[in-house]
Amino acid sequence: MSQATLVRLDLPHMVTSVPGPKAAQLIARDNAIMSPSYTRGYPLTVAHAQGSMIEDLDGNRFLDCNAGIAVCATGHCHPKVVAAIQEQAARLLHYSGTDFYYENMVDLAEKLQSLVPGGGPRRVYLGNSGTEAVEACLKMARYHTGRERFIAFFGAFHGRTMGSLSLTGSKSLQKKGFGSLLSGVSHIPYANCYRCSYGKQVETCNVECVKVIEEQLIRHILPADDIAGIIVEPVQGEGGYVVPPQKFIDELQTVAAKYKIPIIWDEVQSGMGRTGKMFAVEHFGVNPDILALAKGIASGLPLCAVVTKPEWMTWTPGAHASTFGGNPVAIASSLATIELLEQELLENATSVGDYMLGRMRDWPQRFRHVGRVQGLGLMIGFELVRDQKTRERYPELRDRLELMAFERGILILGCGPNSIRLCPPLVFTRDQAEFCLDTLESCLEQSQES
Ligand SMILES: Cc1ncc(COP(=O)(O)O)c(C=O)c1O
Repeated sequence: MSQATLVRLDLPHMVTSVPGPKAAQLIARDNAIMSPSYTRGYPLTVAHAQGSMIEDLDGNRFLDCNAGIAVCATGHCHPKVVAAIQEQAARLLHYSGTDFYYENMVDLAEKLQSLVPGGGPRRVYLGNSGTEAVEACLKMARYHTGRERFIAFFGAFHGRTMGSLSLTGSKSLQKKGFGSLLSGVSHIPYANCYRCSYGKQVETCNVECVKVIEEQLIRHILPADDIAGIIVEPVQGEGGYVVPPQKFIDELQTVAAKYKIPIIWDEVQSGMGRTGKMFAVEHFGVNPDILALAKGIASGLPLCAVVTKPEWMTWTPGAHASTFGGNPVAIASSLATIELLEQELLENATSVGDYMLGRMRDWPQRFRHVGRVQGLGLMIGFELVRDQKTRERYPELRDRLELMAFERGILILGCGPNSIRLCPPLVFTRDQAEFCLDTLESCLEQSQES
């Protein structure tokens, strides 16, 4: 058998050290001209991609556990998605659905309405990015309630435009230098039980992270009838892939209902099948008031959606819109994406995700620098700690691990101060999962020797 026939196209294959010569050239050109605000953790150049595989400019093939930052839900260039895009592109590229009418916009809205848990009618706003979805939610909540203030969580990422940035509670660097943001946003600790801000254990927890809303904020500084909304990720993404306990979600809904405050569920990262269900809120039995979606919704084309119960979307014509929002080509991609998710990929995300998490659960016993391991479906994270007892964060090892994996053909990405996230395309196979974990385990072994 020739060497070529032994090489599997669905697994990594490195032909140069990285970055190779062509990659290095592109990176030099990029460094000279592109915005210095971009953050590149390692020197990956992308020439083309298929399924869960990425090929760089020098012909190195990588296994992608990033999915373009949790975007390429159906894998790269899925033939059914590409066909839908091509067919739509030949028919209509743009006509500003916020001012005129075209059919697939309504098709997608009706489809989203049918998918959102809880049933009943919904209203849908379409835009182009996660931050736009969040901006729309903010404006809509203010408009409807006539209230101004918001509650958000530390560690949350909701975007980088001025409104959504005000809600983001991830890294202060993201706010540095940009002056005053929206006033009236209160951040409180998220339900990270591994690092409980109230010093509680699971057994002693009284959901202090939600009780603080009523017992501290509302009692002392934030009149309930000033609060336009609470924004929360049902699984915290950029903050470290943190899965909260059921009682956090339940208590949050109870306090919100008591004061008639809408909850904005930011599922920009956790939505569209990422967790093995169409929406992460389904894991917690939530019937969402307001749902923000983007990233995976169109397999890589820019699109976002806000799906709300009709009573929240009471704004009038002209109150909010966007020229490009709901682009027909992005919508065609979204409809094809949703069909694939329903047909096979939700199930795949659950089964491959369960396999991965099952194998990773004992990592803290096997590797002394692994702390928390958590996830749902193919949204899986783990923390690197210097010491499992003190839980001191170990960001340097996290960064080193990213590089080690990259050099071995596995693309992973950090999140939170010291976590790694695994968010591969939802077409990720069991073989690819096995290869990925074998490699990461060998990197972890090597790192505990050094
Ligand atoms: C939960 C969440 N909300 C909002 C955003 C912002 O999305 P975008 O980068 O498309 O503006 C992100 C991006 O990572 C996200 O993870």
